[in-house]
Amino acid sequence: MNKNSKIGVFDSGLGGISVLYEIHKLMPNESIVYFGDSGNAPYGIKTKEEVVELSKRICDHLIEKEDVKAIVIACNTATSAAVDILRGQYNIPIIGMEPAIKPAITGTEGVIVVMATEMTLKEEKFNNLLYSFEEAHRIIKMPSPELVDVVENHMDDIEYIKKSISNYLDSISEHVEGIVLGCTHFIFLKDFIDEYYDHKVEIFDGNFGTASQLRNVLHTLELLSDETFEGEISIFNSRDSAFVEKSKNLYQYLRKREQDGHK
Ligand code: SIN
Repeated sequence: MNKNSKIGVFDSGLGGISVLYEIHKLMPNESIVYFGDSGNAPYGIKTKEEVVELSKRICDHLIEKEDVKAIVIACNTATSAAVDILRGQYNIPIIGMEPAIKPAITGTEGVIVVMATEMTLKEEKFNNLLYSFEEAHRIIKMPSPELVDVVENHMDDIEYIKKSISNYLDSISEHVEGIVLGCTHFIFLKDFIDEYYDHKVEIFDGNFGTASQLRNVLHTLELLSDETFEGEISIFNSRDSAFVEKSKNLYQYLRKREQDGHK
């Protein structure tokens, strides 16, 4: 392993492609290998032990076969369940996701909804973060497990996407000012959530924060790739090659969104 080695990024499936996109945008010289575990998605309905085991298996693979210099857990659920264990086990930097509650608190004054999997919302890590802000804000936890399946399997069915989002958000009677996307899959539903609220809410996610943290860590350890190095992206998925194609399409979707001026 050296400073031009790859960065490993993994997720329970397709959601982490949004993190991969952010990392590549910030550090185009880095080579990245992405592993989506769609064959075992969703992680949010598994036990913590199962998620830890799956995460370890992927990290072993990324370290042994790909010789990665750092690993990004591009999955909030796997971060909640496994980040401390993985950090104790491997001697390369392991970067996790953090729901963007802090920026949401700073950016809004009213009710904030955190959409994530049940496991993320239940874990100590998330709740410690939440308690530090809860007094000053009303924060609604919205477990949204089916939206993971929507992104994995139904992104071509717009009516189904809208209906699935309404099924969750219709249950909130309060006036919502901010939405925190606490699952990397949900980045791909951002425009639909925005539309549901008639473009009147602020939507936050932790992707840029994670990419920046990765850059800082690599910089501190003098592990950033040479500026002349041309970063390459390779994508693998445990389900089948159709999911590698879907991953590439989602990546292009984010690129197009950005070219069209969406935030
Ligand atoms: C899941 O696989 O259930 C969700 C992944 C995430 O929390 O980002």
